[in-house]
Amino acid sequence: MKFLIHTYGCQMNVRDSEALEAMMLSRGFELASSEDDADIVIVNSCTVRQKAEEKAIGKVGNLIAAKKISGLMGCAVKRLGEDVFKRLPALDFAVAPRALGLIPKIVSDIIGARNSGKARKRILELGDDLIPEALSSHTTGSWKAFVTVLLGCDNRCSYCIVPDVRGHEYSRPASEIVAEVEALAKGGVKEVMLLGQSVLRYGIRNDAFIPSFPSSPKGYTEPFPRLLERLCEIDGIERIRFTSAHPGGVTDELVDVFTRFGKVCRHLHLPVQSGSDRILKDMGRRYTREEYLSSVKRLRSIADDFALTTDVIVGYPGETQEDFEATRSLMDEAGFDNSFIFKYSPRPGTRSSLKKDDVPKEEKERRDQVLLGDQERRGIERNSRLIGTVREVLSEGPSKRNPDRLSARDSGNRIVVWPKDDDFINDGSKVNLKITDAHAQILIAERI
Ligand code: 5AD
Ligand code: SF4
Repeated sequence: MKFLIHTYGCQMNVRDSEALEAMMLSRGFELASSEDDADIVIVNSCTVRQKAEEKAIGKVGNLIAAKKISGLMGCAVKRLGEDVFKRLPALDFAVAPRALGLIPKIVSDIIGARNSGKARKRILELGDDLIPEALSSHTTGSWKAFVTVLLGCDNRCSYCIVPDVRGHEYSRPASEIVAEVEALAKGGVKEVMLLGQSVLRYGIRNDAFIPSFPSSPKGYTEPFPRLLERLCEIDGIERIRFTSAHPGGVTDELVDVFTRFGKVCRHLHLPVQSGSDRILKDMGRRYTREEYLSSVKRLRSIADDFALTTDVIVGYPGETQEDFEATRSLMDEAGFDNSFIFKYSPRPGTRSSLKKDDVPKEEKERRDQVLLGDQERRGIERNSRLIGTVREVLSEGPSKRNPDRLSARDSGNRIVVWPKDDDFINDGSKVNLKITDAHAQILIAERI
C-alpha cells in the first residue's frame, strides 16, 4: 500500500510528518510518487491562523476519494475535535499532534476492516500519550535533520492557540537527544535543527529530565546552553541550529555558547510580535521594547554578521497607527535580516479572541504591505554589507528556481547562489564563496 503525506504549518509539523513517514516505511508501507498513485493520503494541518486551517481542511477535502484511505493529523484536529467529521464526513481518521505515533496502527486497522468487509468506522484520536518511536524515528538519506527537543508550550501569549493544540511543555531527556544526534551523525547527518515552540525553555520546567549536566556551573538553571555544548562534542555534526526562541531566553549563557562554539550557527529567529509596549503587555509577551532591543544588541555583539529574523503580527486588537509605527521603528532599529509578517487572526479560546477584532481587513493588509516594503529595503541594505566577504556554505545542489545555479546556506541561514561550476550535489560539502551581489533574500556569489 502506498501513502502520501501533505504538510502545512511550521517545522514542527514537517518533523512530525517525517517521523510518521519513517514509521510507515518501517512497517512495509511505500511512499507514493503522486496523489493519484497513493492508496492512503494524510494531511498534516496547522491552525495558527484561520486561513492556515482552511487550507489544510480544503486540501484533505479534495483528496478524499472513494477507494482511498484519508486522514487528517496535526494542530487543526486538536482544535476541532469531533467537529472535524462535520466538516469532512468522508474522512477516515483524525489524529491530534501528540498522538501521531498511533497512525500506522490506525491505518492497518482500517485496511483490515475493509478487507473483511466490515462497515466503515471513523477514528478520532485526541490523546496526549506520546509514543517514543514517534519522536525518535527519522527517514534516511539527508545530511540535515530536525530533532525535537521540547514539545508543547506554556507561554500563553494572548493570541496563540499553540498551547491548546500542542499541550504543555515537555522536555525530552538530554540523554535521549544526545543518543539521537549521535545516531544521526553516524548516518551522515552534518546539520541538526533543534525544535521547540519556545526552544530556549528546554529543560526549565521539568528539569528532572536533565540528569546529565553535572558540570553546569549554575546547577540546572539554564539547561539549553548546556544541551548545545553537549551536542557540539558529537563528531560529524558541523552545524547546530535551533528554533523558535522567546526573547526571555536570551541569557548571558546563551550568548556565551554562541561565542565559544563555531558549530552553533550565528542566527536566531526571535519573534518580537510588536514594537509597542502597550501591545506587548496585552499580548502577555513578558518583555518591553527596550529589553528586546537590548537582547538584539547582545546578540549582534557576538559577530557583525550575526543574523536575526523575526515574526510580527499586524492588526492585533486595538493596534493604533502609533503602535504600528512603533513596530516599524523597532524593526529598523533591530535591523532584521528577514521577517515574517502575519495579519492578526482571532483563534477561538485564546484571550485576545475575547477582544473586538477592530482593525479592518484593508488596514491589516496595508500594514502588512508597509512592513514587507521596509523589509525588502532593509534586507538589501543588510545583505549589501556582505559584498566582498567570503562565506562558508554547505552545498545543497542546484537551486530550485534556476537549475543553472547552485544554492546553499551560510551559518546565518542566508541563501547564497553561484553559477553552476562543478558537480556539487545536495551532500552538505563545504564550499567557500565570495559574495558579489546582494538581494533582499539572496546573496549572489562566485567560487574562490
Ligand atoms: N494571528 C496572527 N498571527 C499569529 N501568530 C500566532 N498566532 C497568531 C494569530 N492568532 C504568528 C506569530 C507566531 C507565528 C508562528 O504566527 O507571529 O510567531
Ligand atoms: Fe501551525 Fe502552530 Fe501547529 Fe506549527 S504548532 S503547525 S504553526 S498551529
